[in-house]
Amino acid sequence: MNREKVQIFDTTLRDGEQVPGCKLDTKQKLVIAERLDGMGVDVIEAGFPVSSPGDFLSVSEISKIVKNATVCGLTRAVKNDIDIAGQALQYAKRPRIHTGIGTSQSHIIHKLNTTPEDIIARAKFAVAHAKTYVEDVEFYAEDAGRTDNAFLARVCEEVIKSGATVLNIPDTTGYCLPHEYGEKIKYLKENVKGIENVTISCHCHNDLGMATANSIAGAMNGARQIECTINGIGERAGNTALEEVVMIFKQHPYLNLYTDIDTKQLNEMSRLVSDSMGMMVQPNKAIVGSNAFAHSSGIHQDGVIKNRETYEIMDPLEVGVNESSIILTARSGRAALAYRAKKVGYELTKVQLDIVYVEFLKYADIKKEVMDDDIHQIIEASNLQDDLVRN
Ligand code: KIV
Ligand code: ZN
Repeated sequence: MNREKVQIFDTTLRDGEQVPGCKLDTKQKLVIAERLDGMGVDVIEAGFPVSSPGDFLSVSEISKIVKNATVCGLTRAVKNDIDIAGQALQYAKRPRIHTGIGTSQSHIIHKLNTTPEDIIARAKFAVAHAKTYVEDVEFYAEDAGRTDNAFLARVCEEVIKSGATVLNIPDTTGYCLPHEYGEKIKYLKENVKGIENVTISCHCHNDLGMATANSIAGAMNGARQIECTINGIGERAGNTALEEVVMIFKQHPYLNLYTDIDTKQLNEMSRLVSDSMGMMVQPNKAIVGSNAFAHSSGIHQDGVIKNRETYEIMDPLEVGVNESSIILTARSGRAALAYRAKKVGYELTKVQLDIVYVEFLKYADIKKEVMDDDIHQIIEASNLQDDLVRN
């Protein structure tokens, strides 16, 4: 079976930047956009041009420097938003307007105070108007996760007729279960005329911790674009994490799906975004957290020292992390202590290791983590005979 490509649509600079406290200036956005382009991202959502002069400028400047990726600007289904986005994207090699409107009962009644027919009319208008600026128009059905499938299919069919090239099916509130979201994509594939000519996109939020699982379920059911952010940042509990979906396809080749992301750049990219936004990455974050390749319990350490694959499903080098780390704590065993002692220059015999280990446990019970400097002190305090081998 042929492997199929899933396009990676990065919205770190739009949905990600909506997080309070994560505001970036144009210079910072340009640095990130250039790195995203170099990493192999297919689409960069550069901002929401009508939202502020600063965002307009960022989208416009990013459009000038991005070499390979499509540059995308967000709009509501509003004429002025689309006009402004068209202007902001005028220098892009591959411009895309991303326009849309709420389609769930909740959005139609409580947010937009209108009727389903009016939603369809506004959606068609927005896509047709965006087409006057760019060929590539993505339509989002906001809150598609909670939208009735039959109505969603109608909206999708109409916007395809108006010229949409990509259909974004956002689980805006992060409510869907993976099987439901997957079935929604399958339903659209089976019930929307013309859908074979457009790309279906997943845009999943993480309110119940299922953004990545939902995006993968979408791709397994025919979606060929995933919208995501570096470190999974985004509104509320965040968006699908780019590094997670990319590594899932890499680690599960039988899915026959791949991306063009250079995964060796993931760790550095994560740090760049975290440092630029002042938004710390939780240590246990999958792929890019500081503990993602750190082992601290004695049983795991013993296994990893013998063979990394006993407790690691991917090679840290694949994501740009130099090596797995063996953390010394009171839960560590002799294997870990010998390994770390060797790294700082001591080749301990079995007898010496037994002596040093007793001293080590005294330190470890006091300190949360035993560092390289402590190892020297521990060896000294162990009063080993002078046959100690230092390398
Ligand atoms: O979550 C969402 O529905 C969005 C749209 C604006 C695409 O971010
Ligand atoms: Zn979103």
